[in-house]
Amino acid sequence: MTATKGLEGIVATTSSISSIIDGILTYRGIDIDELAENATFEEVVFLLWFGKLPTQVELDKLQSDLNASSTIPQPVIDQMKTYPKDANSMSALRTAVSSLALYDPEAGDMSKEANVRKAIRLQAQLPAVVAAFYRIREGKEPIASKGYPSIAANFLYMMTGNEPDAIAIEALDKALVLHADHELNASTFAARVTVATLSDMYSGVTSAIGALKGPLHGGANEAVMAMLEEIGGPTQVDSYINNKLNNKEKIMGFGHRVYKNGDPRAKHLQKMSKQLGQLTGDISWYEMSIHIEELVTGQKGLKPNVDFYSASCYTSLGIPRDLFTPIFAISRASGWTAHILEQYDNNRLIRPRAEYTGLSNQHYIPMEDR
Ligand code: ACO
Repeated sequence: MTATKGLEGIVATTSSISSIIDGILTYRGIDIDELAENATFEEVVFLLWFGKLPTQVELDKLQSDLNASSTIPQPVIDQMKTYPKDANSMSALRTAVSSLALYDPEAGDMSKEANVRKAIRLQAQLPAVVAAFYRIREGKEPIASKGYPSIAANFLYMMTGNEPDAIAIEALDKALVLHADHELNASTFAARVTVATLSDMYSGVTSAIGALKGPLHGGANEAVMAMLEEIGGPTQVDSYINNKLNNKEKIMGFGHRVYKNGDPRAKHLQKMSKQLGQLTGDISWYEMSIHIEELVTGQKGLKPNVDFYSASCYTSLGIPRDLFTPIFAISRASGWTAHILEQYDNNRLIRPRAEYTGLSNQHYIPMEDR
């Protein structure tokens, strides 16, 4: 038995949800470029869960189900108020989502119908949890969704309590579309491993949030913004990046396990980063990002991934840095739950083997002889 480090190139399951073939990402066979230009996030959620684009009637029903399911149980809000004010936002989200299971009478019901209802609840409640965490931390009371037919709009409203701006809704909606699913990424694999034991959907999503948190995965978008802030301004880009590359340090937001010729999602976020920067009258984050890309691609051949330009997009939308990865989770919840439903439909325990590299022929040594 020989191990493949990081399971690189290992095909671990079949799936009909999303594909990455020859550098092209599709959801249910539809190119991400088409979806980014045309679809709303709710259409994508339906597509991922049910395998086809919704009719208007189906979309209206999904939007109304999501709105009807978005209230967080009061005990979870009360518990969130006890979190330390400086709690890591992804740790808070992971804990709150785990707690949601305690108040869902259907948490342990493994019927397909109950699992679809739980997917709706999770998709509806994750944005409410992230917004509530933000408001509680700011010393404000969480506010309920306003029932807009859009998760992006409701999320922005639940954060600020203000009528969200149409451009902000459109930008966030597109970001949610772009992050919704991505074949067997680390967090989706974590979700599938968890539920393949026939554990419940909340356990699967909680595992996935834990995996997404890491800076090699979803946590990279926060790390990108931290880097941009640390660089400080356009004139410092060259020395900062050259120094990092000379020291063989990683530049966050670059590289990908699967894409070697560029992440197809990055160009949409790059365009959005420029547009949002122009709208806010500050394109310095965008300009710094472009210069970093020139240096990193030029010197290392590495291309930006989905996390690189999302950092400047979210900053232009006025979203605090530590909510970037939770927003990624709001979007990816659609993919996680789609994969969990698919796993349950054709389940087998996921239990690989390890190549043993430890000692052999050892013996128990009595305490006094050690
Ligand atoms: N900056 C500098 N060098 C890099 C980078 C980077 N961002 N990414 C990879 N490399 C280099 C590595 O140092 C390594 O060089 P070496 O062979 O000389 O040691 C080589 O490229 C291969 O890198 P690995 O980390 O082994 O590649 P892997 O496929 O395991 O990693 C990963 C992919 C984790 C995304 C990596 O590119 C990385 O760490 N990027 C930065 C973090 C990041 O942006 N993550 C978000 C990914 S997208 C997502 O999950 C949503």
